[in-house]
Amino acid sequence: MSKFLEVRNLNVSFPTEDGMVRASNGVTYSVGLGETLAIVGESGSGKSVSNLAVMGLHNPTRTEISGEAILNLKSGSVDVISADTETVRKLRGKEMAMIFQDPMSALHPFFSIGDQIAEAWHLYNKGSKADGKNKALEMLELVGIPDAAKRINDFPHQFSGGMRQRAMIAMALVNNPSLLIADEPTTALDVTVQSQILSLLKELQIKFNMAIILITHDLGVVAEFADRICVMYGGRIVEDGTVEDIFYQPKHPYTLGLLNSVPRITAGTSHRLKAIPGQPPSLINLPKGCSFAPRCEYTSKVAGGKCSTEVPTLDVKNAGHLSRCFLSTESLNNLVKDKA
Ligand SMILES: Nc1ncnc2c1ncn2[C@@H]1O[C@H](COP(=O)(O)OP(=O)(O)O)[C@@H](O)[C@H]1O
Ligand SMILES: [Mg+2]
Repeated sequence: MSKFLEVRNLNVSFPTEDGMVRASNGVTYSVGLGETLAIVGESGSGKSVSNLAVMGLHNPTRTEISGEAILNLKSGSVDVISADTETVRKLRGKEMAMIFQDPMSALHPFFSIGDQIAEAWHLYNKGSKADGKNKALEMLELVGIPDAAKRINDFPHQFSGGMRQRAMIAMALVNNPSLLIADEPTTALDVTVQSQILSLLKELQIKFNMAIILITHDLGVVAEFADRICVMYGGRIVEDGTVEDIFYQPKHPYTLGLLNSVPRITAGTSHRLKAIPGQPPSLINLPKGCSFAPRCEYTSKVAGGKCSTEVPTLDVKNAGHLSRCFLSTESLNNLVKDKA
């Protein structure tokens, strides 16, 4: 069965004075209804750029985009990359919606929360002003705003950070989209509110059978939440697998590095966190070989110095588990064991 969204060989580049920024480089992923795909990677790895392309939110005159992003709708399939602007605009807010780290990027400061949610509903539904208001109230209650009937007339600045995030979710979901892209939705929130928002998203996902893409730089938040994980580095996907694959059988040195920098409580022993030394690559002048090679501790173990001359392909290492590394699973496992 095909997934709801299928992104294939997506390339997004920005021509700049300094050269071409290759922010999304042959990216392929998919997500089904009721499923959560997490896209994880350090800041600047191309996570947002890739998903903004799916939403049709790049400026066409300043962006070069190729590849496919197919939405398999009940009415048929649409490739949002090649579709015209008007078609994509109609899908946005109806079949697919996006929420961001900063709710104020989606909420207008001068209109009440209720009016903004109602307006998003009126875009796709015929109904009176009262119908719109009722829908806004229903959504605010659904996302857990206490005293929603009173708070509906509040302005965004009267809401706390966590409540604003809930209001943005209410607005994104008002037309019952099949795909929700959540771009670092909890990064700005404290840990307690963060887990409340993620639980809310999970609850709403089950209720509406939504496909969710959760973009985050924090592997720690995805373990409970996601079904699959794509790890991005330097504009490319370097590893793709189930949550179990990524957490228990990582097959890329970058993923290993990310896992080592996540706090974990394992059998009562605390382990020291290690950041990955070095810096992510510039997306203007990507290294000739593997983008991670300059930071990788295992390059000397690959014959012929291939890591610095050839880009490894994203290969299937196990059923449904892909990695972009020249090392075999056995070699990598042995190297990791030797180090421990
Ligand atoms: N409009 C743009 N013009 C030029 N470069 C951009 C533009 N938008 C994003 N970039 C660059 O693309 C790269 C990937 O960005 P992004 O997808 O936002 O990363 P992240 O993984 O943190 O979401 C970054 O190096 C960023 O500077
Ligand atoms: Mg981002």
